[in-house]
Amino acid sequence: MKTFDVYPLINVTPVKAIGASIWDTEGTEYLDLYGGHAVISIGHSHPHFNQRIKEQLDQIAFYSNSIHIPIQKQLAQKLGEVSGCEEYELFLCNSGAEANENALKLASFSSGKPGFISFSGAFHGRTSGAVVLTDNPKIIAPSNQRNDVHILPWGDLGAVEAQLAKGNIAGIIIEGIQGVGGIHVPEASTLQQLAHLAKKYEAKLILDEVQSGYGRTGRFFAFQWAEGLEPDLITVAKGMGNGFPIGGVLIHPSIKASFGLLGTTFGGNHLACAAGLAVLEVIESENLIAYAEELGNKLIPILEAIPGVTEVRGKGLMIGIDLDREAGPVRTSFVHNYHMFTGSAAGKNTIRLLPPLNIDEESLLKFAKNLSIILNS
Ligand SMILES: Cc1ncc(COP(=O)(O)O)c(C=O)c1O
Repeated sequence: MKTFDVYPLINVTPVKAIGASIWDTEGTEYLDLYGGHAVISIGHSHPHFNQRIKEQLDQIAFYSNSIHIPIQKQLAQKLGEVSGCEEYELFLCNSGAEANENALKLASFSSGKPGFISFSGAFHGRTSGAVVLTDNPKIIAPSNQRNDVHILPWGDLGAVEAQLAKGNIAGIIIEGIQGVGGIHVPEASTLQQLAHLAKKYEAKLILDEVQSGYGRTGRFFAFQWAEGLEPDLITVAKGMGNGFPIGGVLIHPSIKASFGLLGTTFGGNHLACAAGLAVLEVIESENLIAYAEELGNKLIPILEAIPGVTEVRGKGLMIGIDLDREAGPVRTSFVHNYHMFTGSAAGKNTIRLLPPLNIDEESLLKFAKNLSIILNS
């Protein structure tokens, strides 16, 4: 059997990875500034992460959600502490799309309404509920089409209120910082206004922190850059498991649980929770949230000063770099001539940086130096 050929591939075959380094079959070392789509938060093969998973594997790897799983409660407790969202409750699942799917359901169950608002450039995943909120008609199948989902212009509060006023809107979903769309940071006042409008029209505000969460932006959640914001639902995945598949929904206590409302076979299994706990323990012990902010503050002005760079957006280690030319050939040169992985974005001229949060400063400076060489020689 062959694999279903849906991914255009970089011609590299990694066989080993430690920290921000990856080695291929030839023994060539690459610097990972992309973390496999923002997944590697605490670095590849982190010793604490590996040890915790191995220890859990030797105890019990999996049982379904029909018995007590104390490590789920430990994970929820730790996530509350590290994120500052102690009063929220946690539903565990397996991926970002699944987290959003469950958040949509909760918004709809609790508001009693069916419709949703998302924003241009958004990416929320590929499952049937999440994909219609995603601003890419190429990935929406005819069976996913709906007429009660509205993708509105980015940050257009007037359009949001006009749509809410028509009724039938269960929720507004927005990324803490838009990732796939090219690293667009919402104004704090926009997020605060969205929360206000959601309340006014009895809809739920869903913050998709799948890419921007887990310390990447210099706050545990990117929305925490906006003072006093309390979303109804917050979705997480990617950096949550540092490569182990795990996702979750943080649910405001105003939304009540009842038996059977949500469910999953694999979500919250023992191994995934061990991985999730290890990530939070390392974020805390290595002080990675403040470190990400500090590195971003150093790197962004250096990138802005490079001739050929037209704009730099982002916070912490979630950075979008717009070039005066197409990014594709520049990224290819980074892989083959400088052995560095970077990310693409919706815009053809944008490079996305999403490195492990404990990357060293020297590696980032090396990236900036090489970018300057590629753009100016
Ligand atoms: C903001 C955001 N939400 C949701 C998803 C979907 O996550 P997953 O691929 O784990 O389903 C992604 C993936 O890139 C994302 O960036």
